[in-house]
Amino acid sequence: MPPRRLVVLVSGAGSNLRALLEATADPAYGAQVVAAMADRPGTGGLDAARGADVPTKVVDFDRYPTRADWDDALLGEVSAYAPDLVVCAGFLRILAAGFLDRVGCAVVNTHPALLPAFPGAHAVRDALAYGVAVTGATVHFADHGVDTGPIIAQAAVAVRDGDDEASLHERIKAVERPLLVDTVGRLARRGWSLHGRKVTVP
Ligand code: GRF
Repeated sequence: MPPRRLVVLVSGAGSNLRALLEATADPAYGAQVVAAMADRPGTGGLDAARGADVPTKVVDFDRYPTRADWDDALLGEVSAYAPDLVVCAGFLRILAAGFLDRVGCAVVNTHPALLPAFPGAHAVRDALAYGVAVTGATVHFADHGVDTGPIIAQAAVAVRDGDDEASLHERIKAVERPLLVDTVGRLARRGWSLHGRKVTVP
């Protein structure tokens, strides 16, 4: 079977994208990153992709007159690569329902908390402020809500005394990267089934 085609969306440093690029260098992984895209210029993530000779595109949110225009532009750029899977790897915008409905493949997101706890853009800060003893990372399918889609995989991280948002997020990211790499690889190689909210990877 040819490798599954991944389009990866990033907004920031791109350590999750780097981990995916490293994994996809092995043909046995079953997937390749055919393009990496960002919603803003200057992301470290796209530098990593360029370094791996992966095509990149910035669809700069600030350069489009309306949200719908940006949605359409992103959809056009992503669709041009005919992905089998879109991976949001630290992509800080919610994809619109119109994008999800029209992109023609599943969209996977990684989130730095144990959903359904602490959805949204400040998950690590919110978990710390709540005082939880355990948080973690969740890889899930995107749906029309904010971090509400079916959960594919999770990993737990203990909160330590003295943690601040940065230290806790670094430890979460240390488990998040292998979780994302493992999950995307399994989805690519084996496919999946969805019954209600239950995701099964055979
Ligand atoms: C990850 O923790 C992701 O879940 C969150 O932002 C972080 C991105 O890290 N939304 P990186 O850009 O992949 O290094």
